[in-house]
Amino acid sequence: MERRAHRFAGLLLIAAVVAVLSPLSRAAESRASFDDNFSKSCPETNFKTSEDGGTWYLSLNKEAGCGFMTKQKYRFGWFSMKLKLVGGDSAGVVTAYYMCSENAAGPERDELDIEFLGNRTGQPYLIQTNVYKNGTGGREMRHILWFDPTEDFHSYSILWNNHQIVFFVDRVPIRVFKNANYTNNFFPNEKPMYLFSSIWNADDWATRGGLEKTDWKKEPFVSSYKDFNVDGCQWEDPYPACVSTTTDNWWDQYDAWHLSKDQKTDYAWVQRNLVIYDYCKDTERYPKLPEECWLSPWD
Ligand SMILES: *[C@@H]1O[C@H](CO)[C@@H](O)[C@H](O)[C@H]1NC(C)=O
Ligand SMILES: *[C@@H]1O[C@H](CO)[C@@H](O)[C@H](O)[C@H]1NC(C)=O
Ligand SMILES: *[C@@H]1O[C@H](CO)[C@@H](O)[C@H](O)[C@H]1NC(C)=O
Ligand SMILES: *[C@@H]1O[C@H](CO)[C@@H](O)[C@H](O)[C@H]1NC(C)=O
Repeated sequence: MERRAHRFAGLLLIAAVVAVLSPLSRAAESRASFDDNFSKSCPETNFKTSEDGGTWYLSLNKEAGCGFMTKQKYRFGWFSMKLKLVGGDSAGVVTAYYMCSENAAGPERDELDIEFLGNRTGQPYLIQTNVYKNGTGGREMRHILWFDPTEDFHSYSILWNNHQIVFFVDRVPIRVFKNANYTNNFFPNEKPMYLFSSIWNADDWATRGGLEKTDWKKEPFVSSYKDFNVDGCQWEDPYPACVSTTTDNWWDQYDAWHLSKDQKTDYAWVQRNLVIYDYCKDTERYPKLPEECWLSPWD
């Protein structure tokens, strides 16, 4: 289940240095235009925006995929975007939406992943999440969704602070990853991360374990994006500029260290109904379960 590591390796970071930055670390909340906050790596033909610039379309064809990344790095915050996924026959196609400390999949990267695994027409998408620390992953979970993610835009968000990482779909927490807070724990909290998205061909593993191949007669495959929203801490050297304790940094405050009562209700429902795979239950793969599997999501 280890996915291809070099999915974004083709990215060429535009070497533009953002010249004017406030020396102070500050919270950023914005709905800016694409070029303000992102660089892309793909042929022009594979990237389009709507006329008003508010919606972006990434496409995959036999020649190329497409990806973008934020120009800024962040450490902790709330990261959100609305996506509408490739409809129809999307087997083999993966849309990834993730945070990563590096712009190529280096051996020491930290990463928080959401991947949408396409499927044959009418068959359900799966959403796979994963967490990497210092190049080590293997923390996959898979969920089905309670709606068809190809019909409309839905929001997919990550809350990240020093206590927990929570993956949300339309504000419903689908996965909680806790910080055990002991030496050598498996919790990425040191390296600031960029936010990325990309669409690529993964028909060697994605759909029914690679049995279903991408049907190139159906190209181009298009994912749509809008409403990028960050309420978090932009990284500015030197470390630890982003450790914030002021009260407006809600993502890093007590209430964001654990699920609220309502979130717990939603999370319990997700656990009962939507989980397809959980590495913490896979004792064949992990005869000795990773330590974080023993942490309670309810604390
Ligand atoms: C987007 O870019 C603008 C202009 O550089 C900047 O002021 C803003 O903080 C950026 N937004 C985010 C969320 O990084
Ligand atoms: C991170 O991984 C590299 C090898 O990939 C290793 O040399 C290094 O010691 C690791 N760092 C930590 C803090 O575990
Ligand atoms: C981790 O433990 C240290 C030392 O006990 C404490 O100062 C720190 O606040 C803890 N961090 C979290 C995220 O619980
Ligand atoms: C695709 O559909 C098949 C049949 O319903 C299902 O078993 C599978 O989990 C779905 N998703 C993926 C990514 O294989």
